[in-house]
Amino acid sequence: MKNPKVVVMGLGYIGLPTGAVIADKGISVRGVDIQSHVVDTINQGRIHIVEPDLAALVQNVVSKGFLTAHTTPALADVFMIAVPTPFKGDHEPDISFVEQAAQHITPFLAPGNLILIESTSPVDTTRTIQKQIEEARPELQNKLHFAYCPERVLPGKILQELRSNPRIIGGITPEDAQKAKEFYALFVEGDLYTTNDHTAEMCKLVENSFRDVNIAFANELSMICHSIDVDVMELIHLANKHPRVSILQPGCGVGGHCIAVDPWFLVHQFPQHANLIRQARETNDSKPLWVLSQVDNAISFFKQKHHRSPQIACLGLSFKPNIDDLRESPALHIAKSIHQEYPNVVAVEPNLLLDQVQSIPLCSLEKALQEADIFVVLVAHTPFRTISYPTSAIVLDFTHQCRD
Ligand SMILES: NC(=O)c1ccc[n+]([C@@H]2O[C@H](COP(=O)([O-])OP(=O)(O)OC[C@H]3O[C@@H](n4cnc5c(N)ncnc54)[C@H](O)[C@@H]3O)[C@@H](O)[C@H]2O)c1
Repeated sequence: MKNPKVVVMGLGYIGLPTGAVIADKGISVRGVDIQSHVVDTINQGRIHIVEPDLAALVQNVVSKGFLTAHTTPALADVFMIAVPTPFKGDHEPDISFVEQAAQHITPFLAPGNLILIESTSPVDTTRTIQKQIEEARPELQNKLHFAYCPERVLPGKILQELRSNPRIIGGITPEDAQKAKEFYALFVEGDLYTTNDHTAEMCKLVENSFRDVNIAFANELSMICHSIDVDVMELIHLANKHPRVSILQPGCGVGGHCIAVDPWFLVHQFPQHANLIRQARETNDSKPLWVLSQVDNAISFFKQKHHRSPQIACLGLSFKPNIDDLRESPALHIAKSIHQEYPNVVAVEPNLLLDQVQSIPLCSLEKALQEADIFVVLVAHTPFRTISYPTSAIVLDFTHQCRD
């Protein structure tokens, strides 16, 4: 696998940084996206997403000609698919973007090509794509290599983790896995573990389900503790002194496009067995409702005491600290629900340079501190960790952060 030509399908949070990191090794990468504004932006050496250090890297590899963006694929040695895999209807996985991307590359495939799926996918997706491609190009049967390689980068640290994280590489055959391993070795410094496609597909789903189940446990504890006036963070701190206990931190819910989505793939595929995983999803999805009931109580208390409606500030809208990503964000859902009931609501979201988000007005932290009566802390962004709230304010901190 020396100096392969690479096509990356999908230039979003995963595909663009991955393409740029590969191109940074002097490898020719053709990035493909169906959105022409994404393609135009990248060809100008700019980026359309927020991720530290990515703008400089893209600018560099585009200016050297190693990364180019297009709306169509071309002949290559390696085809990597990094398109969305949302769920539809009743949490049913939607792999239509992967199928469509596979359809787009099919005319450009040749014997010996390696097809990699990085999109988080239900078990058996790699074989479904192999079947789809081989039905369209029967002359290529047994002449292509297929592998599934899940991505587990942390937004905000994507470039660093793309290079250093260990990777799980699942080939349909051991030869496929080996071929894929040789490719990842060109740009990944972390350990590369080969396995079969089903195990690799399960691995990604299991990792996020593990996190979801453990967060659900912490979220359940936070509600139990509230009902008996016990400080949940003190409880967790003390329980974690046990050498074999490591309880995670509660929050206002679970968001993002991975942990809040991927466990449903297992629930949908294995409804008879995935009971704990389903319950964790339901517990985490219901946490925002509990948060809203606490906010309602605080508003009623304020009205009784002051005979007027309070000004409310929601601190944080993104799905986790210090990023701008609003996908599946429980904080955004909570702020929207409060805003629908009460007009006097603003949000503070330091990672977004906007006047409003989905009709919720945004303001600076300073202004909120001057004007708000109730602070609903939803995301533990760094600037929120050192706030001195007005002494008269009601502060509902659902992030349970240890404040600096
Ligand atoms: N973002 C993360 O942190 C993360 C982490 C691990 C895994 N994943 C998984 O990686 C996959 C991609 O996620 P993302 O966050 O990069 O999504 P994204 O929405 O940021 O980007 C996907 C891109 O694919 C493009 N696209 C859609 N269909 C296409 C097609 N047929 N051909 C070419 N381009 C097409 C879209 O226009 C979009 O720009 C998903 O399966 C996701 O679950 C994401």
